[in-house]
Amino acid sequence: DTFHVDLDDCGPMVLDALIWIKSKIDSTLTFRRSCREGICGSCAMNIDGTNWLACTRFIADTRKRAAIHPLNNMRIIKDLVPDLTHVFAQYRLIEPWLKASAPAPDRERLQRPEERRKLDGSWECILCFSCTSGCPSHWWNADRFLGPAVLLQAWRWLVDSRDEVTGERLDALEDPFRLYRCHTILNCT
Ligand code: FES
Repeated sequence: DTFHVDLDDCGPMVLDALIWIKSKIDSTLTFRRSCREGICGSCAMNIDGTNWLACTRFIADTRKRAAIHPLNNMRIIKDLVPDLTHVFAQYRLIEPWLKASAPAPDRERLQRPEERRKLDGSWECILCFSCTSGCPSHWWNADRFLGPAVLLQAWRWLVDSRDEVTGERLDALEDPFRLYRCHTILNCT
């Protein structure tokens, strides 16, 4: 479908344009959004060929005839809404929570600053799955390869100094598909 958006009547972001279309032209247009500020990861979609959060993409930075598609290699529920059931099941597989047998202290489990710094670059992931949707290796082996978002989270727990099951976590990744189907294609970046 092609829509003409009155930019004088619309906010600056692609998500604003979608909301404008939904309220002014086609109320059936369906997409996910929640926070409108790049935090919840709901509004990931393909904008002019690049996976992006619609709420952080300026309309001014898109083509005049912007092409907007749902994330690829996902079953599409409707319009711009992908079915994330499979990728969240893969996320569950890495058991993304702290595992420690030592009794919980009264207050927080402490880390030294240098231990905490190891988590930088991984805890910020908001699980929008833009990277996974852009990964050719995941297109080819989505059933068994965990894909970049989930592997980043696997790393996040491996390097957490408070976690006590590093060996178990590594064993769970030791598989020709789960981890080793990453061929450093780097579309995820
Ligand atoms: Fe939350 Fe875009 S609406 S990340």
